[in-house]
Amino acid sequence: MTVDNQEELDALIRAGRVVAEARQAMVDAVCPGTTTGELDALGREVFRRNGARSAPRVTYRFPGSTCISINDEAAHGVPSLRRQLHAGDLVNLDVSAELDGYFSDTGISVAVGEVPPVASRLVEVTKLAQRDAMDAAQPGARLRDLGRAVQRRARHHGFRVIKNLNGHGIGRGLHEAPSVPSIDDGQKMVLHEGLVLAIEPFLSVSADHVVDDEDGWTLRTVDGSLVAQFEHSIVVTGGGPLVLTA
Ligand code: CO
Ligand code: CO
Repeated sequence: MTVDNQEELDALIRAGRVVAEARQAMVDAVCPGTTTGELDALGREVFRRNGARSAPRVTYRFPGSTCISINDEAAHGVPSLRRQLHAGDLVNLDVSAELDGYFSDTGISVAVGEVPPVASRLVEVTKLAQRDAMDAAQPGARLRDLGRAVQRRARHHGFRVIKNLNGHGIGRGLHEAPSVPSIDDGQKMVLHEGLVLAIEPFLSVSADHVVDDEDGWTLRTVDGSLVAQFEHSIVVTGGGPLVLTA
């Protein structure tokens, strides 16, 4: 969506605050031995307390409140009380919700205890790539500039960009137009003031695409390599991106 007035902006800010709060509650609880089901319950409780609803649940009947994916799982991992985190894992928490008709979406990859150096580097570089893409999201810039920024960062550090997972417009729905690729696909669409985007590059140690797991939800890297993602929902403004989910 494109923000037209202060009322819409305030509603987006409120929705962004809820998902950021849920994400933080979950991050704070990440440790070896906890389960993805317990983390999910923490996010669900923040939604409940704020009168928000899980976006993947209301949009896709996803069987969890949040998506929690481990190591080579890129996205849409289904939380479970039987799925434990272990020291050395990389866990991704993707948190999106609807509040009063407005949607917000955020994601973060977190190391569980001590992780191999390549895993912590992947997390750092993915976070920078996401920042680069947000910084490129200026009125008058082209959509492809965001993907180009992500690719430049990944290449510089020897990581690969997942090509078949995209960011998206957001606001009145979880997934709106335009699709926001993390590679330069030559798209000429020009960004305008007030456009609301969820920017979420996925970087991997060696894979450039993900495939469906047999559980029907989880997406994994094709070669089993580690993957990380960071995501924020933003409003494009002349003063730089207004990050709704900081
Ligand atoms: Co997300
Ligand atoms: Co998203």
